[in-house]
Amino acid sequence: MSIAHAVRGEVTIRHLSKSFVLNGKPLPVLRDLNFKIRPGESLAIVGASGSGKTTLLRVLAGLEEADSGEVLIEGKVIRGVGTERAVIFQEPRLLPWLTVIDNVGFGLETQGLSREEARTRARRYVQLVGLQSFENAYPRQLSGGMAQRVGIARALAVQPEILLLDEPLGALDAMTKISMQQELARIWRDEDVTTVLVTHDLEEAIYLADRILILPKDKGGEPRLIEIDLPRPRDRSTPAFVRHREELLNLFGLH
Ligand SMILES: Nc1ncnc2c1ncn2[C@@H]1O[C@H](COP(=O)(O)OP(=O)(O)OP(=O)(O)O)[C@@H](O)[C@H]1O
Ligand SMILES: [Mg+2]
Repeated sequence: MSIAHAVRGEVTIRHLSKSFVLNGKPLPVLRDLNFKIRPGESLAIVGASGSGKTTLLRVLAGLEEADSGEVLIEGKVIRGVGTERAVIFQEPRLLPWLTVIDNVGFGLETQGLSREEARTRARRYVQLVGLQSFENAYPRQLSGGMAQRVGIARALAVQPEILLLDEPLGALDAMTKISMQQELARIWRDEDVTTVLVTHDLEEAIYLADRILILPKDKGGEPRLIEIDLPRPRDRSTPAFVRHREELLNLFGLH
């Protein structure tokens, strides 16, 4: 294995801090964060509302600049957005005038693929998320879960090394959510992409993540990283799974 392959998708966060200004006063949000995301790892970020999950994800995406510290991808400091990273938000933000396959293929041609190659690639990812029979449908003809799957297919189609997701399943009903979690677990197994998933759903974090980063709510607190060493596919009813849930609930003082 070459060295370049060994670190593909590795992210290093060093002394990262970020504040905003609220009513003329600084509001510290991220305070001296230091951790590494392993190549191919699935990391979940949880924490109370306002703890800085979206801010951290936006800094990783290059959409927000940190005050100090740095983010390195494969050993190189990032500056702004980059094609090795793709972001999925809570709403899929599809283009309403394009069909499913064209939404997924959108942007591939500007990356240098021919029209034919772009279409073949788009078709592959539409299939991956199980929407082959909706290839020619328009976004308004899709359910919320289906639209979100199109968003996921579009992000994966550019074949990023790092996929950043901010509560991608947050707007879905409980049943659609569980089936989408199963689908995400399968996609990650097949695609070998480093993923960072922001979620407020502790069970979702345990179901999907290799490790969970817990951001403290109060600014004096320290972030924590918890290893989820459960075999996959995971079963929410096993004692080990339930133990992890209790551990997280305890950490949040909810038990
Ligand atoms: N552009 C901004 N300007 C000023 N303050 C901001 C800005 N973006 C975020 N904040 C503040 O930073 C803090 C963290 O916000 P952030 O959106 O990262 O939280 P979060 O953990 O994602 O919360 P939620 O679970 O509610 O989505 C909040 O107190 C918020 O008010
Ligand atoms: Mg948020």
